[in-house]
Amino acid sequence: MKTYLVPGAAGFIGANFTKYMLKKYEDIKIVILDKLTYAGNLGTIKDEIKDDRVEFVKGDIKNRELVDNIFYRNNIDYVVNFAAESHVDRSIENPQIFLETNILGTQNLLDVAKAHWMLGKDEGGYPIYKDGVKYLQVSTDEVYGSLSKDYEEAIDLLLEDEEVKQVVKDRVNLKTYGDNFFTEETPIDPRSPYSSSKASADMIVMAYAETYKMPVNITRCSNNYGPYHFPEKLIPLIIKNILSGKKLPVYGDGKNVRDWLYVEDHAQAIDMVVNNGRLGEVYNVGGFNEEQNINIVKLTIDTIAKIMKEEPEYSKVLKTDLENINYDLIIFVKDRLGHDMRYAIDPTKIATELGWYPETNFEDGIEKTIRWYLDNQEWVEEVASGDYQKYYKQMYEN
Ligand code: NAD
Ligand code: DAU
Repeated sequence: MKTYLVPGAAGFIGANFTKYMLKKYEDIKIVILDKLTYAGNLGTIKDEIKDDRVEFVKGDIKNRELVDNIFYRNNIDYVVNFAAESHVDRSIENPQIFLETNILGTQNLLDVAKAHWMLGKDEGGYPIYKDGVKYLQVSTDEVYGSLSKDYEEAIDLLLEDEEVKQVVKDRVNLKTYGDNFFTEETPIDPRSPYSSSKASADMIVMAYAETYKMPVNITRCSNNYGPYHFPEKLIPLIIKNILSGKKLPVYGDGKNVRDWLYVEDHAQAIDMVVNNGRLGEVYNVGGFNEEQNINIVKLTIDTIAKIMKEEPEYSKVLKTDLENINYDLIIFVKDRLGHDMRYAIDPTKIATELGWYPETNFEDGIEKTIRWYLDNQEWVEEVASGDYQKYYKQMYEN
């Protein structure tokens, strides 16, 4: 049996990863460590914390004694660190906590894992570790900075690798807005306080790999979407606002491009990297699903309107008239400071080394996501009941 320490599993991706792993592996233990910030919610993992295979610990990844204690009590094989401050807009308003959690928190987890996994030292003074242990840092494509957008409208993406092309052709858009992509060789060039803190965390992970020969991997994923996504991020915020007939704030001209990945596909990639990734390697995750923000917003409006027309029983969820669900809801607002123009992942390394490909086609994924929100309005009400109202007012109504 393998035991995973999963910090940040009460948040969006960590929770989806935990659900994925518990479903996939019978013989597994997951220790969740989460501070339950505004972004972490016990309602997100309410079934999982009742599972005998799960232990939940409320606390901060910076707390040395607490993390130490978790390692003393459990035979931890893997640490998969999702815990972070994750929202770019909040990092622009208040950078400091991003540095504290994302950098110092990561370093604390690494240090405690190193102490508990170390068996002795080799002749050169390098630590020797228990067999089979690994620290995986969940990072982001934002550490690479921003790519140029070379085309106003998406052009066909020509994949050179025939094998990759055959596998992905029915699943993804195969369109691109530019000629360049993020590979694992792309130099780190973060531009926001959030991405700088994530890049710093990546560097400290690699420093532990070089200096102490720690067994580590880093994954750098593109924008995720799916169930349990906190409604401060674009897609869940748009869904929430459409259902209540509120305006849909699109930053700048809406032409920035993101590369969207269904969250379960990310969970699968992390599982593959934990179990089969080569030690010390970085793997980019995502790919072939670039879209401009404005088109994401329009597709979300169209999909909700279609569901409401075809399945009138859902209208009970609406706090507005169906006829109000149209493009008139869109408003263009002041742009995000330092707004990155385009992200696009080249997933060739994880595809060819580990056999991972994006599985979920975007139109299916977005409809699945919207249906999840329609069926889980209680969750939305719960997570949006605290700090969210204040945040929304400050961000969008001033
Ligand atoms: P999230 O904000 O939804 O969740 C973060 C979780 O971490 C929350 O449960 C929160 O309570 C917890 N947390 C925050 N500070 C903590 C601390 N000091 N100690 C313990 N727990 C703490 O984030 P997410 O969107 O699920 O992202 C998870 C990870 O994936 C982050 O590291 C993020 O950088 C990375 N990532 C996110 C995306 C995306 O599209 N959301 C894409 C690529 C990478
Ligand atoms: O690329 C991976 C990253 O994706 C992760 O590392 C981050 O944790 C995650 O938050 C996400 O960052 P983004 O800034 O790309 O996501 P967000 O949902 O905040 O914004 C997506 C795009 O939509 C971005 O171009 C800004 C724009 N936007 C966002 C909001 C919240 C709007 O136009 N209006 C909005 O109200």
